[in-house]
Amino acid sequence: MSDLYQYFQNNPGRLIHKWLHYFPIYEHHFARFRNKPVTLLEFGVFHGGSLQMWKQYLGPQAKIIGVDIDPQCKALEEEQIEIIIGDQDNRQFLADLGNSIAPIDILIDDGGHRMSQQIATFEELYSKVAANGVYLCEDTMTSYWNRHGGGYRNPNSFIEYSKNLVDLLHAWHSKDQESFNVTPFTQMTDSIHFYNSVVAIEKAPQQPPSHQKTGTLSFSN
Ligand SMILES: C[S@@+](CC[C@H](N)C(=O)[O-])C[C@H]1O[C@@H](n2cnc3c(N)ncnc32)[C@H](O)[C@@H]1O
Repeated sequence: MSDLYQYFQNNPGRLIHKWLHYFPIYEHHFARFRNKPVTLLEFGVFHGGSLQMWKQYLGPQAKIIGVDIDPQCKALEEEQIEIIIGDQDNRQFLADLGNSIAPIDILIDDGGHRMSQQIATFEELYSKVAANGVYLCEDTMTSYWNRHGGGYRNPNSFIEYSKNLVDLLHAWHSKDQESFNVTPFTQMTDSIHFYNSVVAIEKAPQQPPSHQKTGTLSFSN
């Protein structure tokens, strides 16, 4: 059993609500940040338990910041854990937040799960994630739910929005630069990972890709 899942199962702290299949995903993307002086920002504090879990998992040098619309959450602050009250739907709030806490090493969007919130949070804060950080949006199954502003193949859903990011990842190879070209996203993104209900985006500065041939010819033509 992984450290994180073990902590969750034996939770000594406040209430946490997570889908069980997310735990290997967290380990895969977050393990490299353990015991380093990192900043984790999570939208969606709920009862504060996930913030305590990240604190324990990442270690004593980590700074954990939670954001929630519910003012009651402010009372859940403790050593290493800061809580900011605000609305994920408010782009000005998100922009100010990003300017005040960047760089963010790990950003987890587990807030309201509506399309407008997931897209606004990504658009306002992706550039504030550290050059080698990770952005993880969870509960993206809401992209398929009308009541969250989604619906199957709804062009306004976060999943459809993320599919466009897949195109941008490949923009180095565009043969039609007027309609499809390299953007800052292309230049700062290493990979996009689609899981059942999680999208994780790994950042790393990119150079124009190059290729080469090695070895000897097998045929004359
Ligand atoms: C799924 S719960 C978070 C669960 C928590 N991260 C955990 O793992 O235990 C979602 C939280 O998002 C908050 N929320 C809902 N709408 C929001 C909004 N517009 N801005 C910020 N937080 C919001 C809710 O108050 C709630 O506490």
